[in-house]
Amino acid sequence: MKRPSVHHLLLFTLCVYHMFTGNIHINNVMAFDLNTITFDQGYTPLFSDFNIDRSQDDTRVRLLLNRQSGCGIISTDYYNYGFFSAKIKLPMEKTPGIVVAFYTSNVDMFPKTHDELDVEFLGNARGWTFQTNVYGNGSTTRGREERYRLWFDPSKEFHRYSILWTRNKIIFYVDEIPIREVMRDAGMGGDYPSKPMSSYATVWDASTWATGGGRHKVNYCFEPFTSELQDLVLQGCPVDPIDATSTNCLDAIDELEASEFATITPRQRQAKKWFREKYMYYSYCYDRRRYPSPLPECLLVSSEEELFKTNGRLKNPQQFQQYWHSPGESQRQPEMTAAY
Ligand SMILES: *[C@@H]1O[C@H](CO)[C@@H](O)[C@H](O)[C@H]1NC(C)=O
Repeated sequence: MKRPSVHHLLLFTLCVYHMFTGNIHINNVMAFDLNTITFDQGYTPLFSDFNIDRSQDDTRVRLLLNRQSGCGIISTDYYNYGFFSAKIKLPMEKTPGIVVAFYTSNVDMFPKTHDELDVEFLGNARGWTFQTNVYGNGSTTRGREERYRLWFDPSKEFHRYSILWTRNKIIFYVDEIPIREVMRDAGMGGDYPSKPMSSYATVWDASTWATGGGRHKVNYCFEPFTSELQDLVLQGCPVDPIDATSTNCLDAIDELEASEFATITPRQRQAKKWFREKYMYYSYCYDRRRYPSPLPECLLVSSEEELFKTNGRLKNPQQFQQYWHSPGESQRQPEMTAAY
């Protein structure tokens, strides 16, 4: 029932143009068509309200970390499967020890058997890295971390970060690039998240945890550290977390699973391969010391596997690319054009 709009025609024209010039800016050309909401339409403060700064029109929210506190927001509803997404700009400069997390969880409802999907940005001396993780039914002893660098400086501009969670797969996106896909495998059992979750964004001082076990402490001479969120998207079936069956979610789930972001196109698959081979620097799937046999959902990719040692870390970290914080200078960011 989608009519070709001016927007789509323009996209098409751009795509054709870019096909011929080989000049692919995925952010502009493949942007998802999303319904964004205001803060109030989907979220509420979680803690340290005084550090949450909302724009007048309520479409943007700034999360501050200062020596008093970090802060956090939470969606007002729990969702029985969903698409959770925001454009985020991270604090600039002097960010070691800071963690900015965008995630889904139900730990407040199910403290012993919670589910969780994480995107966590870790500030370190060279800039930001990030990790994704998956927990189901309290599987905290089986971490499923992957860690990555980025091809841009996430403190310089907004990028969209998204978590898709359906009955049979989980996809993490950076912009429109599906950086990680977890297909539900029967062997996962309860480790696959299956209870309603809410969406969170938090910023906190992880001095003792994030960066080399506390080697780099947050330096409050540079406070406040500001993360900005905008173009929020919450899609899925809002439910009562305890009695999820009280709501008929089938239509909403069908709609979710039919959305463009629930299917990875061949071109996105290329981009995924490009990203993972260039920017992923740890994966639990290749960590044989931790998991002598890979966890059931791991689909080993030989071109990735070649890059990793048996401890899941890179054989050759030097050849690895990352943007660097370069205050004052223009950024030496690898051109994304036709890179994949
Ligand atoms: C989740 O964990 C609880 C408690 O350990 C267990 O009773 C239940 O069967 C598990 N659920 C699934 C789906 O594995």
